[in-house]
Parts: sequence; C-alpha cells; structure tokens
Amino acid sequence: MANPDESISKQALFTRRLLEWHRTVNTRDLPWKGEKDPYRIWLSEIILQQTRAQQGLPYYHAFTTQYPTVHDLAAAKDDDVFRVWQGLGYYNRCRNMLATARYISDELSGAFPSTYEGLLSLKGIGPYTAAAIGSFAFGLPTAVLDGNVYRVLSRYFGIETPSDSSEGKAIFTSLAAELVSPKESALYNQAIMDLGATVCTPANPKCEDCPVASLCFARSHDAQAIYPVRTKKINVTERHFNYLVIVHNDQIWVNKRAEGDIWANLFELLLIETPKQTQPAELQKALKTLELSVKDIERHTFFHSKQRLTHQLIHSYFYSVSITEPDRHSLPGMGRWVSINELKNLAFPKTLVSFFRKNLYF
Ligand code: ADE
Repeated sequence: MANPDESISKQALFTRRLLEWHRTVNTRDLPWKGEKDPYRIWLSEIILQQTRAQQGLPYYHAFTTQYPTVHDLAAAKDDDVFRVWQGLGYYNRCRNMLATARYISDELSGAFPSTYEGLLSLKGIGPYTAAAIGSFAFGLPTAVLDGNVYRVLSRYFGIETPSDSSEGKAIFTSLAAELVSPKESALYNQAIMDLGATVCTPANPKCEDCPVASLCFARSHDAQAIYPVRTKKINVTERHFNYLVIVHNDQIWVNKRAEGDIWANLFELLLIETPKQTQPAELQKALKTLELSVKDIERHTFFHSKQRLTHQLIHSYFYSVSITEPDRHSLPGMGRWVSINELKNLAFPKTLVSFFRKNLYF
C-alpha cells in the first residue's frame, strides 16, 4: 500500500506528527496549559524563564492566588513580591515583572498588548516570551525559539550551522516560522516545548517515544549528542563568597544589597569576597579593617554551596563570628540587626535560604 505521507515534505510531516502526538499521547499536565488569560500566561512564562516547569509550579500557584489580577500585582509592595519570588533567582526577572504589571495596570487599563511588537516592547519580554504569549493568549502565528527548539530542529533536520551564530539564528528563525501551524500556533508551541522537555532531552533522548523519530537525521546517524552545534564555549568565572553569621543576643546582622547586580534589594549576611577559597585567619584580617572586635571565627565546614549562573560559578562559605559589644560598631553597607525570628520574613538569595534552613534558623 502506498504510504499516505509520501507526498508530504519532511517539514510538513514534522508539524503534523508533532500536533498529533500532542493531542493523543502527550500527557504532560501543567496548570497554564490551555490558559487564555494573558495575565496568567504572562506570569507562567516569566516564572519559566530559566526555571524548569516542576520548580516553577508552586510559584505559579502562589502568584495567581496572591495576585489574581494584574492590578493586584501592580499594587503590591516590592518587598512582598520579592518574598513570593524568593528561590527563583535572577531577580531582575522579578523587578521587570513588577514594572510591566504597573505599566499595564496604570497606562493600559489592565489590558495586555495583543500584537507581537506590543508584547515585545514590555520590560522582561523578549522574542521567546512574546511569541509564547502571542500564540497562547491571542492566537498569533508566532513560533517560539529557544535552546529546546534549537535542539529539536537541529537534530531532526541535521542542521550543522551553529545555533549561536547570526547565520544559524537566521536559519532557525525562518525554519521555525515555516513550521508553526498558523491556525494552531498555541498547540504547536506547547507541543514543541513539551517534546524538548520530556522526549528530545539534551542527554539520553527518549527516541523510542518520539513522534518524528523515523525521519530524524540525528537519530538515523546516531548523532543526537552533537546537536545543537555551538561555536562558543561559555566562559565561567569562579567567585568565592564568605558569609559571616554574626549573632548577638538572638539577633543576627543582615545587610540589604544595593542596586547593581542580580541580588539588588535582597538581604544577605556580611559578605567578604576573596579571589580564592580562604582561611578564617585571612578573614579575621579583613574584619580588622572593618573595626569589628571579633572574639572567634569558625567555618561551617559542612555547608559549602556551589551555584552555577550563566557565566559564574559561585562558591559560598559560611563562618560563625562572635563579637564583643556590637552596638559600638557600625557595620558596613545598609545593615541592621534583626531578631532571628524575623529572618523568615525577609527575601534572601537562594544560597542563604538553604543555609538558614539547614541550620534551623527557619
Ligand atoms: N517553558 C516555557 N514556557 C513553557 C510552557 N508554556 N510550558 C512548558 N514549559 C515552558
């Protein structure tokens, strides 16, 4: 019998089989799937930037429960919103989210723009997020393009042009625009995201579950691991953070970080950065220059965290410091003493939260 698919191009088959898989086999269940409210879609997409779906789920529930409309979010206090965001990291996302909520609430009477360009003009919304919201909320025929999509398309079509070159970006962009089914762009985008996350994974792809495996170039050449091809290796700088846990009379010294980096406006402990891993004696020297009278300084040897950001590997070490007569010493930065019970009400970077949890501060 003739193959009914024979006269159809490899591109058209990709879209057809992907959509069919999505409708009949894909059981990935996420609360924002099929959602039509642009506010809720936007929240989910902002939360899912640089965050896996399972990790983002409780945050999506927290935000939609505490701030059911864009006006509620716009009216919230910054510190309360940071507190709900705590643990997701990359705090610029949270700051941009608040700025956009306020802009939409105040300037657009709460209505999200319904064009790709309008969405793209909002703070914190790049091409991927604009394409996702545009298709999910407004049915725009825009295709999402991110690392997952590069991987799926480069494997299926055997594309060797590096995805991080301008030539590669142009190839993938026009290919994605041809593949997206204009009338079913929301389903198509959700399907390719899910395929990349659950089947066409970076390591050990589950080709036996893939709806397009029989036509996949990488699979037929047993070359899944080399796709997507990239030109650049990311340079990673190692940094060493020494956090000082200064406790006195059930109070702990915390500092609010100034503007300038991803943790701006969050709280932290007194931080001394050193070029490499260091010893308590070295820190004691640094503390002398701060005119702190230190009785004792001891490393928490069982807690060492390594946090990988895109371009940095941050090692964090913690030291208990006992001091004499704290009131006579002004500590640097925007610091203050807070009672240990109060710690749980403040927003801290992820590493500090883990430290506090492990050490039963909250
Ligand atoms: N990552 C980004 N957006 C997503 C979505 N809508 N579903 C699953 N993963 C995603």
